[in-house]
Amino acid sequence: MSKQSILVLDFGGQYNQLIARRVRECNVYCEVKPYTMSLEDIRAFDPMGIIFTGGPNSVYDEKSPQVDPAIFELGVPVLGICYGCQLIAHNLGGRVTAATDDSAREYGKTETYYNTDCRLFKGLPKQGVSWMSHGDYMEKVPEGFQLVAHSDACPNVAICDETRGFYGVQFHPEVNHTEHGTDMIRNFLYEVCGAKGEWTMGDYCKTAIAQIREKVGSGKVLLALSGGVDSSVAAALLAEAVGSQLTCVFVDHGLMRKNEGDEVEAAFSKWDLNFVRVDAEARFLEKLAGVVEPESKRKIIGEEFIRVFEEEAKKIGRVDFLVQGTIYPDVIESGAGDAAVIKSHHNVGGLPDYVDFKEIIEPLRMLFKDEVRQLGRELGLPEYLVMRQPFPGPGLAIRIIGDITKEKADILRDADAIYREEIANAGLDRSINQYFAVLTNTRSVGVMGDGRTYDYTLALRAVTTSDFMTADWARIPYDVLDRVSVRIVNEVPNINRICYDITSKPPATIEWE
Ligand code: XMP
Repeated sequence: MSKQSILVLDFGGQYNQLIARRVRECNVYCEVKPYTMSLEDIRAFDPMGIIFTGGPNSVYDEKSPQVDPAIFELGVPVLGICYGCQLIAHNLGGRVTAATDDSAREYGKTETYYNTDCRLFKGLPKQGVSWMSHGDYMEKVPEGFQLVAHSDACPNVAICDETRGFYGVQFHPEVNHTEHGTDMIRNFLYEVCGAKGEWTMGDYCKTAIAQIREKVGSGKVLLALSGGVDSSVAAALLAEAVGSQLTCVFVDHGLMRKNEGDEVEAAFSKWDLNFVRVDAEARFLEKLAGVVEPESKRKIIGEEFIRVFEEEAKKIGRVDFLVQGTIYPDVIESGAGDAAVIKSHHNVGGLPDYVDFKEIIEPLRMLFKDEVRQLGRELGLPEYLVMRQPFPGPGLAIRIIGDITKEKADILRDADAIYREEIANAGLDRSINQYFAVLTNTRSVGVMGDGRTYDYTLALRAVTTSDFMTADWARIPYDVLDRVSVRIVNEVPNINRICYDITSKPPATIEWE
């Protein structure tokens, strides 16, 4: 690591990922590591500053996560947030105790007063709302530290020792509720640690390419391309780095959206790589014939995908590296408990254990989703790929209710394309997080011209969400819905009725199956 990196030591707080996000927003590279990272590894990482995160423990408990006190002798500035602040106090001669109601147990938005002579608050307003969430209290401030912020209930909200570059805040500057919170983090990075702000996607891209070249050498690389943002960006990066040594296998299961396969292929035509597009529509449709149960559809598609991929991989023979499009939130969230399985989200392209390879490469492992998109742009991928909304691995199979046929898939593809086009024309494609059409298996009577029709009902779905775990239905203006409806019934045969789904998640889910 270069001296321009920040190390975020994780003590189990819920906003830790957000801290990393904020640091990078300030154009400084950082990595989150567990608090157990050894001093030796920290030295090797060579950070220009360290941030201790919050955490659920009390620093005075025997079993609470601690650091090697020698960390304070490294000559590296430290910013402690919440638990991290108490950890600094506890280690450097202060005292932390459980707060009582009148000694400032604080939760939520709190009016806070800052000493702007302190470098952490330099140039910021002297007063503002901060977000507190602590049940412990820094009763005694450690030797050599100054108090630099207080609230109405609590005298000890922030401490600093400017000479050693140690800062501690009881509140959470990383959350949006804290006014000027990101500016405080920026001050720590630039005023205290001497950051130069060199973390730009362009630089990252160049470094990543150089590292991949060094690692891969003259080896062969294999990647399963789904056409989603992550696998596309990973493919573009590898293509740029090692070009003809890369084989991308793109399995077209026939349940893609309109023109999607061609778009993906076109996006990669500028690189000299081995692009294998497998037209497996007939194969998938045959396996899916007559299947109506959603989880069976998922299972069949997941298994068939692996089989097709395996056949292709065999043709290529032994490869040295297999690329995975894992991104940073996947890394952080892995092992996130055992919530009930509502739907098995098999991602098409899960780890194929039957492919003969030496090592896995995960070039996006350190990036957040919007950074992945930025990298995609840097590599020259078209906007339609970089900004794609999430699309489930099983594709249209879980948007055709009941049994799947090619005719139904074609009807849905055409209707969905019109819907997406009109949403984009209305300028809503950035504000709605996911939107698509669903072909229901309900047929109803209609009248077209002078004749009776008996055709399918199409449902339109559109949601706003930040994490796809909960979602609200999007308030699309009536005139936009009207345009979509008129166009679809006029342009797509076999649809004579259109409904708009107005359920949130929960109780509904985003997809219908
Ligand atoms: P639900 O329908 O569970 O969807 O509210 C949440 C998000 O996950 C996507 N989704 C899937 N993605 N394989 C996937 O790769 C699947 O089987 C699958 N099912 C749902 C859905 O599109 C939404 O973004």
